[in-house]
Amino acid sequence: MSYVVRPADPADAQGLSVLGDAVAAEPEGWLATNNGWRTVGDERRYLRAIRRYPHAGVFVAEAEDGSIVGRLSLARDQHPASRHVADLGLMVAQSHRRMGIGRALLAAAVEWARANDVRKLELHVFPYNTAAIALYEEFGFEHEGYRKQHYRRGDEFVDAILMAYDVTAT
Ligand SMILES: CC(C)(COP(=O)(O)OP(=O)(O)OC[C@H]1O[C@@H](n2cnc3c(N)ncnc32)[C@H](O)[C@@H]1OP(=O)(O)O)[C@@H](O)C(=O)NCCC(=O)NCCS
Repeated sequence: MSYVVRPADPADAQGLSVLGDAVAAEPEGWLATNNGWRTVGDERRYLRAIRRYPHAGVFVAEAEDGSIVGRLSLARDQHPASRHVADLGLMVAQSHRRMGIGRALLAAAVEWARANDVRKLELHVFPYNTAAIALYEEFGFEHEGYRKQHYRRGDEFVDAILMAYDVTAT
């Protein structure tokens, strides 16, 4: 199975919404969002708003049949003293995991960071998400901290690991 990684287009909104809903519905609860992904309309508006915008980006992995099987989003930190930091979110369709898509999307994120004066990429991952942690470690992310009860999932507060990648290091 082959795929391409490219910047998202507003026309990808439908495919991204299907992917987001599917991954958010996985019982393990990989994502901080667990009450459904954003709607197609919201996704389309967001993708339109960030076109050629240096403070946020979305990349997709598109499979041979045109379906969207991966999403990576980036958003620059809003604080004036940490504008060199961007937060990232990542998901790959269950049917397309362990094919290198996550790694390829992270490589696109690093390129985006370099082109937009971002020096550091950071993310939160749940401690039980061993697949994601393995990917981030293999890619070169470092553990920077442990955030106790950082996310709310329904009535529960759950811990998260903070990881970061120094874009200037390589
Ligand atoms: C985490 C996730 C993005 C990984 O994406 P992926 O496309 O399957 O990852 P890749 O194929 O690029 O994996 C690259 C490397 O990461 C590591 N890795 C990835 N998944 C792994 C797993 N399940 N177990 C162990 N190592 C794993 C391996 O070193 C792998 O290299 P290899 O396949 O040559 O051994 C994917 O599992 C996913 O979308 N999960 C649900 C959503 C999610 O957890 N998002 C992250 C939230 S922080």
